[in-house]
Amino acid sequence: MKDNIKKDFLTLKDYSKKEILTILDMAKEIKTDPGKYKNILKDKNIALLFDKPSTRTRVSFEVGINQLGGHCLVLDSKNLQLGRGETYADTAKIFEAYLDGIVIRTFKQETIEEVSDKCSIPVINALTDSFHPCQILADLQTLMEKKLLFKKNLKFVYFGDPNNVSNSLLIGFTKLGIDITVCCPGLLKIEDSLMDYLAKETAENKNTIFIENDPLKAAFGADVIYTDAWISMGQEEDKEKIEMMKPYQVNGNLLKNAKNDIKIMHCLPAHREMEITSEILDSNHSIVWEQAENRLHAQKGLLRYLYYK
Ligand code: CP
Ligand code: NVA
Repeated sequence: MKDNIKKDFLTLKDYSKKEILTILDMAKEIKTDPGKYKNILKDKNIALLFDKPSTRTRVSFEVGINQLGGHCLVLDSKNLQLGRGETYADTAKIFEAYLDGIVIRTFKQETIEEVSDKCSIPVINALTDSFHPCQILADLQTLMEKKLLFKKNLKFVYFGDPNNVSNSLLIGFTKLGIDITVCCPGLLKIEDSLMDYLAKETAENKNTIFIENDPLKAAFGADVIYTDAWISMGQEEDKEKIEMMKPYQVNGNLLKNAKNDIKIMHCLPAHREMEITSEILDSNHSIVWEQAENRLHAQKGLLRYLYYK
């Protein structure tokens, strides 16, 4: 239903360091004492609309909304009139009339921005081709739990295709003033518009973004290596990229140069023996399952921030 003070979660660009840390604090409190927050979404109806597959985001939002006392509706665009050509803009007006919030996973970032413009209920980005901000909240929470987030001289390296996850990592780390390295083939570039935005933000937040094309150099001395699928959802035709990405696989050889206590992160789903070997994914260095569990807690923190404060 209409809310005059709606706040969206479309990209971390719209959030300050203070706001991100507040959400992480809220997530930590909820994780520690879930019973205390079991009614904070009472009488709230929040829908999930996913145009791409999802396991973690879909299930964790549905469970999280229920655990906070809200009601969750899982919608499928193929079975809505969207599937027959009704526009997102018109659909947004209908959502506004019935719902208190909408969580959307879709292709274009512009689609969720259009939905947000057309309705006065909070809109949450559950992944677009450009950004995946909910994932990064869980990643930051996991790094905080491991006491790595504000570690002096932290070397955090994202290995792989510059994509929605790395875009949001770059924004999140920059907002917090933490250095980050992206290791990818020279032919793959971070979008110019994002680089322009980051150039201004890094100057303000005093962090550095390093781009490294040599995997062994990037892994050298790393505290954390993070990877993601080489081919994101919706890019399945881009088969050439797989050959280009092979030297960037996170495997035992790569980790020879890293620290003994290196942590391995992956947003999942993993494509075993592609971007990461099972040897590494299932090793003691891997914190991917804690990361995945934190999707639930971090999103509950976000919902508390958006609806309850
Ligand atoms: N990491 C992540 O967003 O996973 P799902 O695609 O399963 O939601
Ligand atoms: N970059 C991946 C993330 C999946 C959670 C994709 O968009 O498919």
